[in-house]
Amino acid sequence: MAPGASEITKIPGDKSISHRSIIIASLSEGITKFEGFLCSDDCLATLEIFQQLGVKIDRNGSSVTVNSPGISGFLQPKGELNVGNSGTGIRLISGVLSALPFDTQITGDASIQKRPMARIIDPLIQMGAVIESKDGMPPLTIRGGQSLNSIHYNMPIASAQVKSSLLLAAVSAGISVSVTEPEACRDHTERMLRLFGGSCTTNGSLIEYDGEALHSPEGVVQIPADISSALFMIVLALLKNEPTKLTNIGLNPSRTGCLDVLKRMNAPIEIIEHDGSYEPMGDIVVHASDHPLKNITVPNDLIANIIDECPILAVLATKATGTFIVRNAKELRVKESDRIDGICRLIHALGGHVVEHHDGFEITGPINPPSTFSFDAHFDHRLAMSALIAGTTYGIQIEVEGTDSITTSFPNFFELLSSSF
Ligand code: S3P
Repeated sequence: MAPGASEITKIPGDKSISHRSIIIASLSEGITKFEGFLCSDDCLATLEIFQQLGVKIDRNGSSVTVNSPGISGFLQPKGELNVGNSGTGIRLISGVLSALPFDTQITGDASIQKRPMARIIDPLIQMGAVIESKDGMPPLTIRGGQSLNSIHYNMPIASAQVKSSLLLAAVSAGISVSVTEPEACRDHTERMLRLFGGSCTTNGSLIEYDGEALHSPEGVVQIPADISSALFMIVLALLKNEPTKLTNIGLNPSRTGCLDVLKRMNAPIEIIEHDGSYEPMGDIVVHASDHPLKNITVPNDLIANIIDECPILAVLATKATGTFIVRNAKELRVKESDRIDGICRLIHALGGHVVEHHDGFEITGPINPPSTFSFDAHFDHRLAMSALIAGTTYGIQIEVEGTDSITTSFPNFFELLSSSF
């Protein structure tokens, strides 16, 4: 890396893995220690839920110790469980709650109360769970004391949250389950179950869990930095043509589709993998380059892998030549907000040429940005950060509404943004 290049060592812990660290350690009797836990609103909500269920969890910054009595020692919480803004939280934890001996109620903020839960309710009901909802949306009342049965579930949509909800229901009930996924989606649950000694196998699109109890691993489990958060800083470095190194980033292949997209766009990035652990990890180096970026059509088989990164990739597309095309991505409509609408509004506000499709969007670059713009992120963290990166890149005076949401995933975003370059 060039002398004088910036080094970013403070990308916070992976959100998906942080949720799973609390949930899976709570399902395993005994003590588990983690480093690198993401102290964001979403993950802290998951941590508090398991404290309400009677699990002793101590946190000192990003070091967390979970001391669980095991599933049979869980206590009925006094009130409603609240996941905040987290779709991962509600979908994964509902799986766990389905097998408990007492009733629970789980809900979240205004955005969560509009997100579809039928995708987990239907298969959990097939497993014998009893779940009441408001038209398939939270709050959910989960009736306790059901005896769950093993099923095979052919997932109609590629969703790691659905897959994980069923796997965790099976762990909680002590039964086997199998799931077929239509496209590969993130496999953090499977990896962490294996780390806890669970027999969870993947054969192509088939994932099977055998129902055996988990055991806490020895030593300290390291949670890698979140590649989805890192990408905001990578895109900023690319757009500013500033050599930058980001360290200890999670490089799980089910999450690195965004790096494939960057390479296809001619982005000068280098990946340095570290030695193996339960989750691949490494450094990402952005080099300075005179080669222009070019837009691409994102292949369909990468869509599930880059679903969270679409907003910031759309910002990158505004600096590249040609047309950036994302289709077969209708899941973007039901994320923290309708992200197809949000991306199109953002690119439009930036003076870019954008076409909205029911299942995606097309952006033709490069753009000629305005001197000011305002944008409502609809309390969606990734849209808010994407707008701020665009503003910083183009030196535009911007007014972004909904930036409070950023603490749900990237609490030190503003610190890194102001200290970068
Ligand atoms: C997540 C899965 C993805 C992703 C979300 C986190 C997870 O959703 O968009 O931000 O941690 O399991 P899907 O369930 O749609 O794959």
